[in-house]
Amino acid sequence: MAPSKSVGVLVGLLLLGLAVSAHDAAAGPPDYQDKVGVARWLAHQAVEGVLATTSTAFPGYAFGNTQSFADGTIKNSTGHLFFYVSNLDASIQDILVDPRCTFTLSEVETNFCKQNHYDAEDPRCARLTFVGTYRNVTSAEEPHAQAALFDRHPEMKSWNSQGSFHDFHFTTLEIEHIWLVDMFGGAADVDVKQYYARNNVTAL
Ligand SMILES: *[C@@H]1O[C@H](CO)[C@@H](O)[C@H](O)[C@H]1NC(C)=O
Ligand SMILES: *[C@@H]1O[C@H](CO)[C@@H](O)[C@H](O)[C@H]1NC(C)=O
Ligand SMILES: *[C@@H]1O[C@H](CO)[C@@H](O)[C@H](O)[C@H]1NC(C)=O
Repeated sequence: MAPSKSVGVLVGLLLLGLAVSAHDAAAGPPDYQDKVGVARWLAHQAVEGVLATTSTAFPGYAFGNTQSFADGTIKNSTGHLFFYVSNLDASIQDILVDPRCTFTLSEVETNFCKQNHYDAEDPRCARLTFVGTYRNVTSAEEPHAQAALFDRHPEMKSWNSQGSFHDFHFTTLEIEHIWLVDMFGGAADVDVKQYYARNNVTAL
C-alpha cells in the first residue's frame, strides 16, 4: 500500500472511531445524579415542548400548547431556549398580557425511555420544566437564535416568506427556576447559573 494511501486509511479509521465514540456519547443521557448535565442534555436533544401560559381565551385556566424550540445549532448547545413565534399564536397572545410561563420537555422525545421501556410518567424517564419570563430576543441574541432554530427546524426558514402576515419573530425564556424529575425520590431544583455555565454537554 502506498504511504499516502495508508495514511488515508488511518485517518479514515480515526474519523470512524471519533464518529462512533460521539455516537456512543450521544446514545444516552448523563448519569441521573448529574442534574445539571441531564437538564442541559435534554434541552439540547429535544426540539419541541409544551409552553404553559395564563390563558386569556379561557380566563382562570392554564393553557398548554406545543412550541418548537432549539437551544443551539446541532453542534453548539447553549442551554438558552430560543423560539420562533407569531403574535397570532394563542400562547403569544397570553404572553403579551403576562410573560410568566413554564416550558416542559420530556425524555420520551429521545430514544432513551422507549429503549428502556419507561413510560413517560415513570420517574426514570426525565421530565424537565423551565419556569421563567418570556421575552423577545435582543439584537445581539437574534443571530444565535436564528442559527439555532433554522438548523434544527429547517422548515422555519420559509415561515416569514414575503407577503406573510404572521410576523414570526425570535423569542427566548429568561429561566428563573428549573424543575427536574429524573429518578425516584422527587423533583430536583437545578441551579440556573450552573445550568447556563455547563459547557461540556455532548452534541447530538
Ligand atoms: C455557540 O453559541 C453561542 C451563543 O449562543 C456563541 O456565543 C458561540 O460563539 C457559539 N459557538 C460556536 C462554536 O459556534
Ligand atoms: C416582540 O416582538 C413582536 C414582533 O415584533 C412585537 O409584536 C411584540 O410586541 C414584542 N413583544 C414585546 C413584549 O415587546
Ligand atoms: C462535565 O463537567 C462536570 C462538572 O462541571 C462533570 O461532573 C462531568 O463529569 C463532565 N462531563 C463530561 C462528559 O466530561
